This record gives sequence, structure tokens and C-alpha cells, in this order.
Amino acid sequence: MAKRVRGLDVGTMNLAGAVQDDKGNIKIKLMRHCFLDIDVNPFTKKMLLQQKVQYVELGKKVYVLGESAFELANIMNKVIRRPMKAGVMSPDEADAAPIFGLLVEAVIGKAEEPNTPCYYSVPANPIDADFNIVYHSGIIAGALKNLGYVGKEMNEGHAVVFSELAEQDFTGIGISFGGGMVNVCVAYKTIPAVAFSTSRSGDWIDKNVANVLGINQTRAAAIKEKGVDLKNPKTREHEAIGIYYRNLINYTITNIKAKFESAESVPQFPDPVDIVCSGGTSLIGGFVDVFEEELKKVDFPIPINKVRLAEEPLNATAKGCLLAALNDAEMEQEQQESEAKPKKNTK
Ligand SMILES: Nc1ncnc2c1ncn2[C@@H]1O[C@H](COP(=O)(O)OP(=O)(O)OP(=O)(O)O)[C@@H](O)[C@H]1O
Ligand SMILES: [Mg+2]
Repeated sequence: MAKRVRGLDVGTMNLAGAVQDDKGNIKIKLMRHCFLDIDVNPFTKKMLLQQKVQYVELGKKVYVLGESAFELANIMNKVIRRPMKAGVMSPDEADAAPIFGLLVEAVIGKAEEPNTPCYYSVPANPIDADFNIVYHSGIIAGALKNLGYVGKEMNEGHAVVFSELAEQDFTGIGISFGGGMVNVCVAYKTIPAVAFSTSRSGDWIDKNVANVLGINQTRAAAIKEKGVDLKNPKTREHEAIGIYYRNLINYTITNIKAKFESAESVPQFPDPVDIVCSGGTSLIGGFVDVFEEELKKVDFPIPINKVRLAEEPLNATAKGCLLAALNDAEMEQEQQESEAKPKKNTK
């Protein structure tokens, strides 16, 4: 039987794991990418049991993972720990590697067979920040190896193309608007022509909204996630969120244009293509309308048919990673079958 391959989206705010079940349906497990460490004592353990919180014990600490950690941090007035910052593994959390492994296990489980392939998302090269993904990718590959997988990198924007543009022959523009960054991939028949990331996304909006309104960033994020319509702002807070959203979308479009025009060789798109937006930041009301309005203001170098949201914006990257892994497995199987066929005697 074929190995049960996986897709894994490693995001600043969320982790998502994808696998195909026995009936061929794609199943996604989403988890908040954070944890909380608490000193072990009989009181804390009793409290965790009462709250029905899932936790693991490592050394003298208890680690609460995911959404529960987030809720508990609020109750205990503690600061949540996040393995990633601004799109990559945070050096401040370098000792969190074993916990990262547990979080990954919670969304994709252990491999049933050794060396099962798992594609995982990584950001494309940033245009406005100074980092590379070598350390980041190494930590993920190491965690996957410990769980029995062979990790394979995939650009986040490319994963969106795989997930959402199958009917367009994998030709078009896939964008993930995440928490830490925006990832863009312009693809022609599956091949990425231009791929890059920027560091203006959800966290950037929260930081700026918090600044102008004199509130903290967590509060700004909560207001933003609680049902804002960019086309119909109801409060001063909503208005501020709208202003930064418009700026973020314009910045993204302008950068795609600049990157595409300055790339050494780019494909000619004979027919208009779709732009597919995914990621948590694209969930806000009116996102596509504002995107279309901003697109009209720019002399965009690629003919566009339609701007649309991914089918499931939070799951698109994990799904794309899984589809890439399934595609590889299928090709490998076809190759094995053709090698196993008795060769015709050509003498
Ligand atoms: N309903 C909503 N409206 C607006 N923003 C939202 C909503 N729900 C979540 N978000 C925002 O989406 C972002 C997280 O999105 P996502 O899970 O796609 O990011 P990520 O993959 O973890 O991060 P990255 O890809 O940047 O590393 C956060 O900024 C969050 O505030
Ligand atoms: Mg993401």
C-alpha cells in the first residue's frame, strides 16, 4: 500500500496538517501555533485536569499546547509563547524545539511507516526584511524526521497555487495573507515565475491600528477578527483597520507589479488569469472588493480574469502541500509500475 503522505503549513499564528483519509477525502487539522509553560505542582495539575486541558510534562514543566494555552494564558495573566515570529522560527524561542515537535505531532501525528514524505510550507525570499529560511527550515525538517517523515520544502504561495488553481492548469497568482507575512507566487503551468514574501500582513495591521488608537495589539487583533466590513466601517476602530488594510493590499499589488516587471524572464500570459487570496487576513469582510478597487488603480502587467478567495482560506496552504506530496507519490508509483513491467524482447 502507498505511504500516507502529509502536508504541513507552518505559520506564525497557526499550524495546519493535511492528510487523505481512506475514502480519499482531504482532512485538515488546524491548531494555534503557541504554548504555555507552567511549573509543575499539585495545584496546577489539578487546575489543568479541571479545565480539561491537554498538556504534556517535560522535566519540571508542564506544557499546554495550542488554543488551550491561549485561553489559559488569559486566565492566568501570563504571556503566551510562540515558536515563530514574523514568518520564521524565532531565535528567542530556540529552546522550544521539542515543544514545536509536539505541536507538529498534534496536527499530523506520527508517520505510519518510516520515511513517509511530508511537504511543509516555507516563506519565499522576503523583499523588505533581512532573513533567510535556513534555520527555520532545518528546525521543521528535524521535527518531521523525529516523527518518521522526510520533510520537503514548498513555498507558501506555490502551495496556494497547487490548492486553488487546478482548474486553471495551475496558472495564475496565489497569495497567502498570513499573520507574519504575505506570500505571493505567480505561476505558469505549475512553475513559479515570480515568488516573494513581504512582512506587512495581519500583525502589521494590528501593530499600526494599536498605535493610532492607543490600545494594545491583542485588543486591536480581537476587534479586527470580530466581524469588520471594510466597505462599511461602523466605528473609528473599523475605519482605522480599513485604512491599513487598503495600504497593505496596495503594497502587495505594487510589489507584484515591480517584481514581475524586473524579473529576468517571465512568461507571457495569453489569457487573463485568476488571483486567489488565502490566509487568515483575507477573511475580513469586503477583502476582495478592496483588492479589486486597488488593482484598478495600478497598471498591472498581467491580464486578470477574477480576484477570488480560496475555498477555505485558512487551509489552502496545508492542502496545497498535501496535493504536492500526493502528486509525487503518484509519479513514483507510475515509475515503479513501468519498471516492473516485463520488457519487450527487441532482439
Ligand atoms: N476573521 C478574521 N478577520 C481578519 N483577520 C483575521 C480573521 N481571522 C484571523 N485573522 C488574522 O489572520 C492572521 C493569521 O492568518 P494565518 O493563520 O493564515 O497566518 P499564518 O499562516 O499562521 O502566518 P504566516 O503565514 O504569516 O506565517 C492573523 O493576523 C489573524 O489576526
Ligand atoms: Mg501562512
